[in-house]
Amino acid sequence: MIWSLQKAPALSTEAFDQWCKLLEERTGISLSPQQQPFLQTQISMRMRELGFAEYSEYYRRVTDGIWGRAEWSVLVDRLMVKETSFFRHRHSFECVRQLLQNRIDNGQIGGSFDVWSVGCSTGEEPYSLAMLVNDCFELAQLKPYFGVFATDISMPALSKARSGVYSERKLEPLSSHEKLRYFRDLGDGNYKVADKLQDRLCFSQGSVLELKSMPVEKMDVIFCQNLLIYFRRWRRREILQGFADRLKPNGMLVIGLGETPDWKHPQLARVRDERVQAYRRIG
Ligand SMILES: C[S@@+](CC[C@H](N)C(=O)[O-])C[C@H]1O[C@@H](n2cnc3c(N)ncnc32)[C@H](O)[C@@H]1O
Repeated sequence: MIWSLQKAPALSTEAFDQWCKLLEERTGISLSPQQQPFLQTQISMRMRELGFAEYSEYYRRVTDGIWGRAEWSVLVDRLMVKETSFFRHRHSFECVRQLLQNRIDNGQIGGSFDVWSVGCSTGEEPYSLAMLVNDCFELAQLKPYFGVFATDISMPALSKARSGVYSERKLEPLSSHEKLRYFRDLGDGNYKVADKLQDRLCFSQGSVLELKSMPVEKMDVIFCQNLLIYFRRWRRREILQGFADRLKPNGMLVIGLGETPDWKHPQLARVRDERVQAYRRIG
């Protein structure tokens, strides 16, 4: 079959539903019927690369044991929206800075300050968190005793994140001070995150659907933005409950503004700032 000369075969409604079910079971992401063209394009492109002609044939491949798992990890990366940037929503980051600054000012810094970036994509979010936490420790002349744990479902996104290399355009949201302090010019239009920052990061593959099996200690900050929006409401609540259980006393949960507007938890108090959706653990 000469694929390059052929149009992608149409994905029937039944086949679309079958793929959506699989995607939701494995990632939590729920697609709307309007996303059928997107799904069809992504899957058919991958089928073309492998030489599959039928969606059903490729579906069997993806769901077939150990080979299927390897193929799934390629496909899932193609289906994810990985858009991100440094300090994407500044107010949310400032909220974390405020929390840490208050602790430093009140002499409440005990052990390590632990932060978790959930759905970290290519790393801009966890590195932004590490920059601001490091700033607070250095300004207070304290040893930078902190760690940023960063998880995502996509392996290619994580390997980009681990490399810590970004183009000049990616660095645009940063102040010149942040660029100078935390990046090294590689001389080819790219910049590399400073070792002192990178050493604080730990990247790991993990799905928010499997929170219980993730080896995460209790956290001072859980930062999860632009991920829950892809999930059904009941699932968002289940995940948020899991985050609440993993916060240290007085820890903070920061989610995207408006992602689950009416959510409440008996042990969490909403931070009084309408520019953010953040909660403090009170018990
Ligand atoms: C739109 S990006 C958000 C990146 C970053 N948090 C931000 O706000 O800039 C969403 C990320 O969530 C990841 N993701 C999707 N489903 C996931 C799941 N079930 N568990 C963990 N990460 C997931 C995707 O791979 C993608 O990198």
